[in-house]
Amino acid sequence: MESFIGWIGGKRALRRAILERFPDDEVGRYIEVFGGAAWVLFAKEKKANQLEVYNDINGNLVNLFRCVKYHCGELQRELEWMLTSREQFFDCLTQYQARGLTDIQRAARFFYAVKISFGCDNRTYATSSKQIDNAVEYMTKVQERIRGVNIENKDFADLIKVYDRPTALFYLDPPYVDTEKYYDSPFCAQDHQRLREVLGHIKGRFILSYNDHPLVRELYADYRIEEVTRTSTLAGSGNNQTQYAELIIRNF
Ligand SMILES: C[S@@+](CC[C@H](N)C(=O)[O-])C[C@H]1O[C@@H](n2cnc3c(N)ncnc32)[C@H](O)[C@@H]1O
Repeated sequence: MESFIGWIGGKRALRRAILERFPDDEVGRYIEVFGGAAWVLFAKEKKANQLEVYNDINGNLVNLFRCVKYHCGELQRELEWMLTSREQFFDCLTQYQARGLTDIQRAARFFYAVKISFGCDNRTYATSSKQIDNAVEYMTKVQERIRGVNIENKDFADLIKVYDRPTALFYLDPPYVDTEKYYDSPFCAQDHQRLREVLGHIKGRFILSYNDHPLVRELYADYRIEEVTRTSTLAGSGNNQTQYAELIIRNF
């Protein structure tokens, strides 16, 4: 199935290439460390007896996932009367960051802001008239899919420490090198280094996606690196196609 939101750096286009690289043998626990919109988790088959974990450091995003999981009906009702308008968009942007809202009210405003913003950047009003009704209805299916998923709100290093086992499979999709500023939570050069150090000591297996950048190739030179290229059509133009080189890195 598809995710219910778009997200900057979301792996909608790459999800099949990533799933094709999953191990054939049994995975006891699957952990999506930099969850975002969780495009790989939603594309992945749900397996009996397999623990699944979604994590992100962004508290508003995690609150949205938790509200879909535990209060889907209430969240859908909160969104029922939200109409697509510029005023409502900017009200939502201010309100979800303010104090005093319930988790459900905050999740509704955050969801609305992500859905309505241009390129899901959560900042710019998209002038094309987007409707959110179908997305709100689709939340029921999302709730069913994430029913057994553990939802965490930790820094990647803490999360990996908690869930690491020899039977674990981690999928990691960190902010790409030089694109860190697009996310609300800061991620810097030391964090790329810190991630490499943590991954150097894990007991489980990992699949890591990154942009094809010299720093990434240098940090992961000892691992299995595969290059994948995808064609991206720039917004607003059917002809303006760009090739993006990305890397899929594995320790198995
Ligand atoms: C490239 S996006 C992930 C996209 C996701 N794979 C998808 O398909 O939508 C990177 C995510 O990492 C999160 N993030 C940034 N710093 C983090 C940290 N220190 N620990 C955990 N998550 C972090 C961001 O909030 C962002 O949602």
